[in-house]
Amino acid sequence: MRILFFDTKPYDVPSFEAYGKKHDMEFKFLETKLNEDTAELAKGYDAVCVFVNDTVNAQVIDKLYEYGVKLIALRSAGYNNVDVQHAFGKIHVVHVPAYSPYSVAEHAMALLLTSIRRIHKAYNRTREFNFSLSGLTGFDLHGKTVGVVGTGKIGSIFMNICRGFGMNVIAYDRFPKADDTKYVTLDELFEQSDIISLHCPLTEETKHLIDKQAIEKMKKGVVILNTSRGALIDAEALLQGIKERKIGAACLDVYEEEADIFFEDLSGHILSDDVLSRLMSMPNVIVTSHQAFLTEEALNNIAETTVNNILSYFENDGICDNELCYRCGNIERCKKDRKERCF
Ligand code: NAI
Repeated sequence: MRILFFDTKPYDVPSFEAYGKKHDMEFKFLETKLNEDTAELAKGYDAVCVFVNDTVNAQVIDKLYEYGVKLIALRSAGYNNVDVQHAFGKIHVVHVPAYSPYSVAEHAMALLLTSIRRIHKAYNRTREFNFSLSGLTGFDLHGKTVGVVGTGKIGSIFMNICRGFGMNVIAYDRFPKADDTKYVTLDELFEQSDIISLHCPLTEETKHLIDKQAIEKMKKGVVILNTSRGALIDAEALLQGIKERKIGAACLDVYEEEADIFFEDLSGHILSDDVLSRLMSMPNVIVTSHQAFLTEEALNNIAETTVNNILSYFENDGICDNELCYRCGNIERCKKDRKERCF
């Protein structure tokens, strides 16, 4: 079994090699991203393993199919970069639905605390022996209202963390759970929240969920957290909201145009993305580069689940619970619900 990894970083390799060795799998790790130009590298491989900024559009899928690749194994939860509808009937797609929802939820809280207690500023100051407190005044989280969009695995954990801080938690989800979560409409969430945290997937429906109109409905001074997917926020509208002092702070682990920027060392280069540059020049914006998932526990779980997904596809000939198709969730049409492969 020969598996080609695209967009590999040094921190990916040890956990994958450890799990791969156990099952006699041959892994080749490439730093290059998968796209129309690099798909050819997959000739002769049984499967490709890809990450969030690899391009797996119709053209790439057709090329992989032509080269005999049978499986696209995502080592991520989100799969908005894969045209699953086009892959249907050609190449099977598997993903890692959960590897450590705690890693992302905890990172969201780390960003929030850093931002509102000005830890990033204090850190820089004290390293220069500047022990002044001017401009470092924060606010208590206790008693504040946090609006959580998407109450799945990560959103639920984030809500619990917020409850631990004594916050008033409200939520919006397209498919609310039947539990004691206080669900409101999206507009009510925008109007009532002091802090808004995004934990829903990126879909046609959620693209630019936070845009100019949404920002107009929000409280002055609102703090916006995005650890989900960049395109949930219209970055230009966010920038405008910050310039108009409507948005109090923004913490972004993801950015709409992150694909050629995040995960790379661009120090010494000139950043061509003016919106990101301007956002990062703001004192109340914190950016981390899609780092929320990056814990040891998550990396081990990602490697273990990905290897099991591949084994289950090639060796067990059974269904893989983590297979994806555009019919998944549709009980009438998706065969996985009848304990078979999606197609
Ligand atoms: P999940 O599938 O458990 O939860 C997603 C929730 O969003 C579900 O409750 C679903 O009903 C809800 N939802 C779907 N459509 C919606 C809509 N139109 N409006 C509001 N809610 C909607 O997913 P999980 O594991 O909690 O992950 C959430 C997102 O976090 C992923 O889609 C991914 O984009 C992002 N993520 C980011 C990572 C990072 O490193 N920054 C790492 C892992 C995931």
